[in-house]
Amino acid sequence: MQASAGLTIRDALDIEAEGFAELAKTSEARALISLFLGDQLLKKKAKTFRKSAEPVKKAAVLGAGIMGGGVAYQSAYKKIPIAMKDISSSQLDLGMSEASSILQRRVDRGRMESRKMAETLTRITPSLSYDSLKEADLVVEAVVELETVKRQVYQETEEVIAEDAVLASNTSTISITKLAEGLKNPERFCGMHFFNPVHRMPLVEVIRARQSSEETIARTVAFAADLGKSPVVVNDCPGFLVNRVLFPYFAGFAGLIEAGVDFERIDKVMQKFGWPMGPAWLLDVVGIDTSHHAGGVLAEGYPDRMSNEKANIITHMFENGRFGKKNDKGFYIHTTDKKGKPRKERDPEMDSLLEQCYGQKEKSQITDQEIIERMMLPMLMESSRCLEDEIVESPAEVDMALIFGLGFPPFRGGIFRWADEEGLERLASASEKYVELSQLYKPTEQILGMVSKGEVFHPIGG
Ligand SMILES: NC(=O)c1ccc[n+]([C@@H]2O[C@H](COP(=O)([O-])OP(=O)(O)OC[C@H]3O[C@@H](n4cnc5c(N)ncnc54)[C@H](O)[C@@H]3O)[C@@H](O)[C@H]2O)c1
Repeated sequence: MQASAGLTIRDALDIEAEGFAELAKTSEARALISLFLGDQLLKKKAKTFRKSAEPVKKAAVLGAGIMGGGVAYQSAYKKIPIAMKDISSSQLDLGMSEASSILQRRVDRGRMESRKMAETLTRITPSLSYDSLKEADLVVEAVVELETVKRQVYQETEEVIAEDAVLASNTSTISITKLAEGLKNPERFCGMHFFNPVHRMPLVEVIRARQSSEETIARTVAFAADLGKSPVVVNDCPGFLVNRVLFPYFAGFAGLIEAGVDFERIDKVMQKFGWPMGPAWLLDVVGIDTSHHAGGVLAEGYPDRMSNEKANIITHMFENGRFGKKNDKGFYIHTTDKKGKPRKERDPEMDSLLEQCYGQKEKSQITDQEIIERMMLPMLMESSRCLEDEIVESPAEVDMALIFGLGFPPFRGGIFRWADEEGLERLASASEKYVELSQLYKPTEQILGMVSKGEVFHPIGG
């Protein structure tokens, strides 16, 4: 702008064209093109599924907690009436007031009329009775993460819902295939994994159990798309796709802490890399208790590389009742500033906790580049294993899932696009160096094969 100010329009346009040509050659431009194409791919797939699915005209959600309330809001906002069933009337009130405060914020910002807000809220029918589920074409289950409770709820639900209604679980950690066992209609069951907060996070993982029919998957994908979300279909496995690749990243984090790298420094480096929050901050937000539980499920699922028998800061914090932001005991003390923006500062208690866990540590000499590699390579290798195991169909879907579900830096285009830009050969040999730390770094057969053939994950568009 400075260069063109004072020039004629013609000369100014020449400068703009030169600048554009330069930008168009950058890795950021390639990543953003990739993002656009990935988004188109998800939309195209959803459209294909929609052709073979009965649309969801009425929905229901079991559980009015953080997730159930979010699903009810999103459905009502997208004009699909939804019944919200819980066992506690105070939870129903909480679910309704959460939906109402999200809507109120829209009204306050001038993005919605008050009349529309009231109209939206009337589309949610809070209820303590199973009768409210009778007319639903699809029921999302979002009750507490306890298999016994879920099974009991399914039994009661199947007694009332229509023969052809779909039942979809929002579980984060329980096998969908296992949950389907014992159902009256296992083929009409699948996973529908939303991300928190539901109204903001675009991704929905639709999880295909061994028993799920294609019609079930199609209806669930179409419903997710009608909710304005971006569905990615994955086959059932511990952690599904997103958590399966997120926990190796957390393992990289725990390894760095063990090596004496300060968690605040890791957060800064990863935020500079482009993540909206660093791993310590993210763990605080997700909840150390939740992460500890999910980490246990993954350790059981992939004992060769995810077992967490070693001293581990996440386990140590959990055992000391530090659950993160939810109980004001995390890596950080979280507050908000006058404008309501989140603020955080290091919790001084963490220093003694780290010492208890790992003993006194020398200040580490590890470089920022090594921090990035030790965090990102386990995520890359696990993502590649997901392709090898046919958990997900394409590299583009993995990239989109990580951007939409985890906030992977969009300007890097996703884990595989990042790997292509960095060079698979360099990353494979860098990863090899860390194998002695953990098998999570072991380059996959897929990546080694691609290196030997000179292939990349995203060949089209350079
Ligand atoms: N919180 C997250 O970030 C997140 C993200 C993705 C998935 N999930 C999954 O979503 C589910 C719900 O999690 P949440 O965080 O919303 O939990 P929550 O504790 O906020 O809400 C659970 C709700 O279920 C209700 N409930 C318990 N038993 C019930 C029953 N028999 N019938 C009907 N309602 C019952 C409770 O009263 C409560 O309102 C879990 O399976 C969890 O793993 C959570």
